[in-house]
Amino acid sequence: MPKDLEKLALLEEKNRQAFLGGGKERIEKQHQAGKLTARERIETLLDPGSFVELDRLMTHRCTDFGMEKQKFLGDGVVTGYGTIHGKTVYLFSQDFTVFGGSLSGAHAQKICKVMDLAIRAGAPVIGLNDSGGARIQEGVESLGGYAEIFWRNTQASGVIPQISVILGPCAGGAVYSPAITDFIFMVENSSYMFVTGPDVIKTVTHEEVTKEALGGAETHSEKSGVNHFVYPDERACLEGVRKLLSLVPMNNLDSAPRVKSEDPSNRICKAINDILPDSPQKPYDMRKVIEDVVDQGDFFEVHAGYAKNILCGFARLGGETVGIVANQPQHLAGCLDIDASLKGARFVRYCDSFNIPLITLVDVPGFLPGTAQEYGGIIKHGAKLLYAFAEATVPKLTVITRKAYGGAYDVMASKHIRADFNFAYPIAEIAVMGPDGAINILYRKELAEAEKNGTLVQERARLTDVYRKTFANPYKAAELGYIDEVIEPEMTRTRLIQGLKALTGKREALPKRKHGNIPL
Ligand code: HXC
Repeated sequence: MPKDLEKLALLEEKNRQAFLGGGKERIEKQHQAGKLTARERIETLLDPGSFVELDRLMTHRCTDFGMEKQKFLGDGVVTGYGTIHGKTVYLFSQDFTVFGGSLSGAHAQKICKVMDLAIRAGAPVIGLNDSGGARIQEGVESLGGYAEIFWRNTQASGVIPQISVILGPCAGGAVYSPAITDFIFMVENSSYMFVTGPDVIKTVTHEEVTKEALGGAETHSEKSGVNHFVYPDERACLEGVRKLLSLVPMNNLDSAPRVKSEDPSNRICKAINDILPDSPQKPYDMRKVIEDVVDQGDFFEVHAGYAKNILCGFARLGGETVGIVANQPQHLAGCLDIDASLKGARFVRYCDSFNIPLITLVDVPGFLPGTAQEYGGIIKHGAKLLYAFAEATVPKLTVITRKAYGGAYDVMASKHIRADFNFAYPIAEIAVMGPDGAINILYRKELAEAEKNGTLVQERARLTDVYRKTFANPYKAAELGYIDEVIEPEMTRTRLIQGLKALTGKREALPKRKHGNIPL
């Protein structure tokens, strides 16, 4: 083709305009607020030079409010595909310098295009959100655009990983797209999510609250549990997204990524015996147990600030990605409560959707008692965790490190809900309830008698000892085949890696149905 310099110059000019977004002044404002621009974020996130842009020249079609005179090429969102650690991802990055990153019909169309491509290609989709919400000038066209995105989020759920990064405001119904996606990332002091902002709240309920307290990163990481990962700045946050993508498969038909592990598969876990305390009443940090077991001690924790009585996160064992769910005795004694059940259930379902084997470490004295829990619906929320573990067909390996009491024993990936390999340490206690509660019920008359005789303390100690000897060990469960092997803690890594290998070919199908009815 002969070079037509005039036409090439036109293309160059259009590209130049598109790269400028809302203009130098607004870019400057964005930088002053400590934020990167939409394009800088993409450069930071993707492998260098891998980004291929789509729809760079698209504009909105609105003619109300004088909008026909205000057009910016790209219309406030940069979309396309690129690679992270060499693997293809599709993404969109909202440009706050153009109409505050607000969503027009055209803007939504661009996002929908990359989502459709991601689903067809079986590649993750990442949304970098920084937006004033629905483009007010476009009215229902903008609302329709959001709904198109929500619909695609639902179609893509469990098919490709969907990741939302909140790097500015995300308000109104706009929050529901990130909420449907698998993981949300936020940045301290610059990310906000709320359904109604502080002004509306003041008008309706007379409550006064700052946007940070209402919907900042800390609030959603620790109080609401909406957010999964929090970082001090945007670059660290985008690095976090890269790390997550190094661990998860491309889609639901892909297997969990394997790398060559430098950490020996049969490495003895030296620290666990020192971590586990002498007394069953003493707390310890289950995170340290996990770090002693997994490859290079590298545990990528999800929801670290929320429901601290349960730990969830990704790690590698013998180079294979696994999802770890573990009770944390250091917080609420590791009891299961509403928040822990929700956190655990969502994580288990993610792992199961994407073929990531589940490792469950159990030290649970039961469900947290109390009216707050009962009135809050611990029955239906606890059932979610039970349901999630029971329906999961990925390899499931369980280690009881200490306590496994009551319904919580059943829930935490027990043999009965189809865990493949169940291990227990010699100090494990597997029973309907702890000794204190149990002897109060079993020996009510004897204890009342002892109280009358002034021998209550001695009698209580004696009966506790009887109960402990009978039930507070793993051997009844081992005799019944509910525990496959009682192992020395130092063998944990070896057995888990052997188990994972032995389950490489696991194929299990659920009964044919439209979908189950998880107790929501
Ligand atoms: C059109 C918008 C806009 C919007 C911001 N802008 N939000 N334009 N539609 N929704 C424009 C502003 O006019 C301004 O244009 C530029 O973006 C930057 O906005 P500022 O207000 O100057 O920035 P800042 O002070 O940082 O405040 C950001 C903000 C605020 C908090 C997001 O702009 C704001 O409150 N916007 C409205 C948010 C909102 O109520 N959206 C609707 C939510 S309901 P210029 O030309 O001056 O640079 C919703 C429903 C979704 O989204 C439903 C889905 C089902």
